Amino acid sequence: MAGGVTTDVKTYSMLINGEFVASKSGKTFPVYDPSTEEVIAQAPEANADDVNRAVAAAKAAFEEGPWATSTAQERGRVLFRLAEKVRQNLTMLAELECRNSGKPIIEAEFDITDVATCFEYYGGLATKVVGYVNPVPDNAMSLSLKEPMGVAGQIIPWNYPLMMAAWKLAPALAAGCTCVLKPAEQTPLTALELAKWLEDVGLPKGVVNVITGFGESCGSPLVKHPDVNKIAFTGSAAVGKIIVKEAADTVKRVTLELGGKSPNIFFADADFEAAIDGALFGVFINQGEVCSAGSRILVQKSIYSKFVEAMAEKAKKIKIGPPLERGTKMGALVSKEQYDRVCSYLEIGKKEGKIAAGGGRAGNFAKGYYVQPTIFYNVDNNARIAREEIFGPVAAVIPFEDEKDAMKIANDTPYGLAAAVWTRDIFKAMRAVKTLRAGIVWVNHMQPTYVEAPWGGYKQSGFGRELGPWGMEEYLETKQVYINLNESPIGWY
Ligand code: NAI
Ligand code: MG
Repeated sequence: MAGGVTTDVKTYSMLINGEFVASKSGKTFPVYDPSTEEVIAQAPEANADDVNRAVAAAKAAFEEGPWATSTAQERGRVLFRLAEKVRQNLTMLAELECRNSGKPIIEAEFDITDVATCFEYYGGLATKVVGYVNPVPDNAMSLSLKEPMGVAGQIIPWNYPLMMAAWKLAPALAAGCTCVLKPAEQTPLTALELAKWLEDVGLPKGVVNVITGFGESCGSPLVKHPDVNKIAFTGSAAVGKIIVKEAADTVKRVTLELGGKSPNIFFADADFEAAIDGALFGVFINQGEVCSAGSRILVQKSIYSKFVEAMAEKAKKIKIGPPLERGTKMGALVSKEQYDRVCSYLEIGKKEGKIAAGGGRAGNFAKGYYVQPTIFYNVDNNARIAREEIFGPVAAVIPFEDEKDAMKIANDTPYGLAAAVWTRDIFKAMRAVKTLRAGIVWVNHMQPTYVEAPWGGYKQSGFGRELGPWGMEEYLETKQVYINLNESPIGWY
């Protein structure tokens, strides 16, 4: 197998029907530390045979096991115990996430804390799913009941590995669904660690199955499987489109979160220092590997040069370094593939705009997928670096004339996940909030995300919402119950 030194390489098993197993084929694949390019583990390479085993287990657990008759209170308590396990193991999980993904340790710690918070939130929400009495015009009682959707296939990306898994597992379990979770092939380790606690916290076998493998050979059979009722996916728009097509034959419920090309808009009257900080934070957090990255930075012409200069000056001081070092603010990109992809956009950007900062490989590291925080300016909104999701530390700064111009450029994108607007003028801010076509609009900030509030996109950024009660709704069906209260015959014939 490719890769460098193989110190301390552990071979993981995956979880199917309560047992830790190898793949049917016996094959494994290497998992890397992208900051050293070393192989740090081997994971089972699941294919359609393993998908079939996992789905069969999830189906049986949904239909027959104790989970099928569990109360909402019991399911909530399972999630509370899982949250507790995550908090107790925060250091281990954060370090593993950091090593496997290349993100800075301080960010990994925030992520793992959010994982625990997410399990707690849905632990509480489990007992707040309520039905409805429909006011039908007859001597009858009509009820709307909420029921779990069934078996959920959950396909996870590599940028927030355990957090994205929690966003999908927590509402599904609270709702009473069973799950087949497929982590990204680049970053399966934290999910495999979490899998080890599921029995301890009281989950019956088969309720959650974690299978590791690649997109086409493991993700796709899960999407096509007739016994999977719902697919929740976060990842690329290209794969999202394939999933919608492949899910059509079995009329699966699908939710998609597909990233974007989100505008971060700066009016001349914004607080300048806060704005510069916000522009950098919006696009360089997590090395820019963020679905809601503010990768199009729209700046009003009257402050444009000053803004680009100040941004560049500060960007050059961002501490890039080994992810596990506490002072590190930017680590390594997740994989060779992603590094090459981002580097190819750096070359495209050099033809499409001017460089204010960065533009190449970062630091004096012999190994590792480090890229400099890069700022292109005088970029046209039609340029490829302004239209295509790069998913790396690359900003395109685009000038605008006035409010109308800013809104037009901001909405001129196939995506619609997020947007942010910076101004001290509340009227201008509120007009922007109404005009921007995005699933979230931040005012004078960019990126805060809370488990209590909805998350998801407009347009080609996907459909469905995660988090909050909205996230739970995506795992529930609505059943109508009609109870006739007349004791006499219908009297029609
Ligand atoms: P990807 O979309 O290929 O992978 C995401 C997940 O989907 C992984 O678990 C993968 O195994 C699975 N997958 C891939 N092909 C599949 C298929 N045919 N059927 C079912 N599952 C499949 O993303 P990739 O290739 O790692 O990254 C490419 C680009 O995607 C990035 O540069 C970025 O622009 C975007 N991306 C967006 C994310 C987001 O949060 N919205 C997260 C990850 C990537
Ligand atoms: Mg891919």
